[in-house]
Amino acid sequence: GEPLERLQAIITRHLGDEGPLLPILHDVQAEWGMIPEAAQPVIAEALGMSRAEIHGVVSFYHDFRQEPAGRHVLRLCRAEACQSVGADALAEQVRAALGLDWHETTPDGRLTLEPVFCLGLCACGPSAQLDDRLVGRATTEKLVALAGGVR
Ligand code: FES
Repeated sequence: GEPLERLQAIITRHLGDEGPLLPILHDVQAEWGMIPEAAQPVIAEALGMSRAEIHGVVSFYHDFRQEPAGRHVLRLCRAEACQSVGADALAEQVRAALGLDWHETTPDGRLTLEPVFCLGLCACGPSAQLDDRLVGRATTEKLVALAGGVR
């Protein structure tokens, strides 16, 4: 269907929910990979909320992206087990090496950096994931090399 029809279908699906906004936003992001600016007034109207309220929620939750992600996504685990084996220092070095802060994308649209809370690889942290590929015992060198290998 057309984007507007697909959006209406998502909204309709959740209108009866208690607190429909977050489920709607999650589904919109699953459908389009982001929350398109144009979707926000439609959602606002359907829920009887203001555009500013919708925008506030979208901006507050970092899970919702307002720009499309890069062609590849590098995720660094920020959860406890990985933190206990140096995830914070690793994250700092990787961010500096790539010149990216969390949720940022390289100017050429190649790579987005995201935090993630546990990849299920706790026993061999610090853990990371480049697209579908899981990386255990991650080091800055390893991750920068992997990130440099994707186009
Ligand atoms: Fe990092 Fe589980 S805590 S993979």
